[in-house]
Amino acid sequence: MKIITTEDGSDTLFSDEFNETYHSGYGALAESRHVFIKNGLDYALDNHKPVEEIRIFEVGFGTGLNALLTMLEGEKRNFKIYYETIELFPVPIETIKALNYTNLLGYEHCYGPYHTMHLCTWNIAHPITKDFTFKKVNASLLDYASTAGNFHVIYFDAFAPDAQPELWTTEVMRKMYDALLPGGMLVSYCSKVSFQKALKEAGFLVEKLPGPPHKREMVRAVKK
Ligand SMILES: C[S@@+](CC[C@H](N)C(=O)[O-])C[C@H]1O[C@@H](n2cnc3c(N)ncnc32)[C@H](O)[C@@H]1O
Repeated sequence: MKIITTEDGSDTLFSDEFNETYHSGYGALAESRHVFIKNGLDYALDNHKPVEEIRIFEVGFGTGLNALLTMLEGEKRNFKIYYETIELFPVPIETIKALNYTNLLGYEHCYGPYHTMHLCTWNIAHPITKDFTFKKVNASLLDYASTAGNFHVIYFDAFAPDAQPELWTTEVMRKMYDALLPGGMLVSYCSKVSFQKALKEAGFLVEKLPGPPHKREMVRAVKK
């Protein structure tokens, strides 16, 4: 695994095993903010008010950038967040410590929570801050069985379909559909036609939105 600096100055990782980067080379921070925060979390906050707590499920914890940005956005907008994420291949803590996210986002404020997310025990919910509860599950998405359809938002951030086609199937999208509350939504940086088809077959209403820098489109899929 190598650290690469993307065009907006934020780091990402390159995985030799999957021959994939964890984020867009045109800006890791820009991509996460656009796809998951603006078009996922913010959209949900604006459309699900009033709720006591927004519940998010993420596919692929990876560097934890989405989780950190979500915690910060929840603080900014004064919302309680429950964040659950699944990861089969955790990134070593030495690599996490070398990434520049906490420097870019506010070292004093972010260092503690970000590293706690990476170091805390798997499969148990932890109050990272008073308004941000976090649980990471060390398992494959393929074995994931949602206990209840109680998530408002899914961040679908797996490696691209060409690298991991087994994660982008209709069967997996049915699981994602079942994991959501009615009106809940899945967002992804990917807008591949076969992915849109899988989402529609699973019952989602699929919307194409302008993508992050240098990417024409992304997808938001809403549970009817
Ligand atoms: C695009 S990266 C995720 C980026 C991450 N959200 C971030 O902010 O850094 C995809 C992630 O999916 C994980 N992954 C790969 N196969 C998986 C599987 N079968 N189940 C769960 N996670 C998987 C990879 O290890 C990797 O961390």
